Amino acid sequence: MDSHSNSSVVRNGLSSRTGQARATTSISKLVGKAHKADCVKIMQSMRANSVQMIFADPPFNLNKKYNSYKDKMKFTEYMEWTEQWLEESARVLKEGGSLFLYNTPKILSHTTPILNDLLEFRHWIAWNSNGQPLGKTLQPAHYGILFYTKTRNSKYYDIRAPHPKCRACETYLKDYGGKEHLRHSFGYQISDVWNDIHRVRHNNRRIDNHPCQLPVHLIERMILMTTDENDIVLDLFCGGGSAAIAAKQMGRRYIGCDIDKEYVNATNSRYRKAQGVKDMMGAYVSMHLGQVASIRDVDVV
Ligand SMILES: C[S@@+](CC[C@H](N)C(=O)[O-])C[C@H]1O[C@@H](n2cnc3c(N)ncnc32)[C@H](O)[C@@H]1O
Repeated sequence: MDSHSNSSVVRNGLSSRTGQARATTSISKLVGKAHKADCVKIMQSMRANSVQMIFADPPFNLNKKYNSYKDKMKFTEYMEWTEQWLEESARVLKEGGSLFLYNTPKILSHTTPILNDLLEFRHWIAWNSNGQPLGKTLQPAHYGILFYTKTRNSKYYDIRAPHPKCRACETYLKDYGGKEHLRHSFGYQISDVWNDIHRVRHNNRRIDNHPCQLPVHLIERMILMTTDENDIVLDLFCGGGSAAIAAKQMGRRYIGCDIDKEYVNATNSRYRKAQGVKDMMGAYVSMHLGQVASIRDVDVV
């Protein structure tokens, strides 16, 4: 029996909630911009198995001040809504496709049981955003990024990041104990703990009207890891448009949505200005402040 028994009807292109067949919008009509739409509704209009990667950075239900969205639901309501958009996500994801869900560890601890019924667990990535933690017990110093795939046999590329060096003296921080020849010439293969990407702090890299933008190169890493050029990336909560820029810079096709018109306009304006970023060998690479931040192992020469 399918271990994902709850999801079998979803995978057949039917809604597990209503059992109704969905209306279909041609995916080519959606590609190439963000839409002012509720994420559940836009996915309901899509055929099953149509996107290679889904990136989800939903509101955290922490009463953040968004432009129009009210970030304060009852917890049970928030989790029911989460289940609804995850079911649709599992349906529209292609075989071999991946979903990344970014949230606080507390919310993610309630989300994994839902996702375990729908998709295959791959990793819980801990992103240490180098913020200033505030907490009543242990200081929370990481956000979680859940990485799930539709099938066990999914598209995946190892990623390398530059070896960390001392800022003052430029020497490598990791000591290879006399086996320096084992140090890879470009960088280390990343693990499920990401310490090397800082959160967006500076005003000149934020668009003023969105309270929680993610660094573009954080999302580029996930895109490089699980997609190829021209694959479709679906961004369910586009906000200020970080995933839109990431998709364009990595040469992937983009579909985004947000319920707020201003955020959608901001995303589309940033998306139009973004351009593909390739290295001298013609491979897509993720750059930050003029340095390579992530590259696929297959593209390192
Ligand atoms: C955490 S923010 C996303 C930030 C974005 N990743 C960025 O880097 O700028 C969450 C967004 O979800 C949007 N939102 C809330 N409910 C939604 C829904 N049902 N469908 C689509 N977007 C929604 C909010 O307007 C908000 O912009």
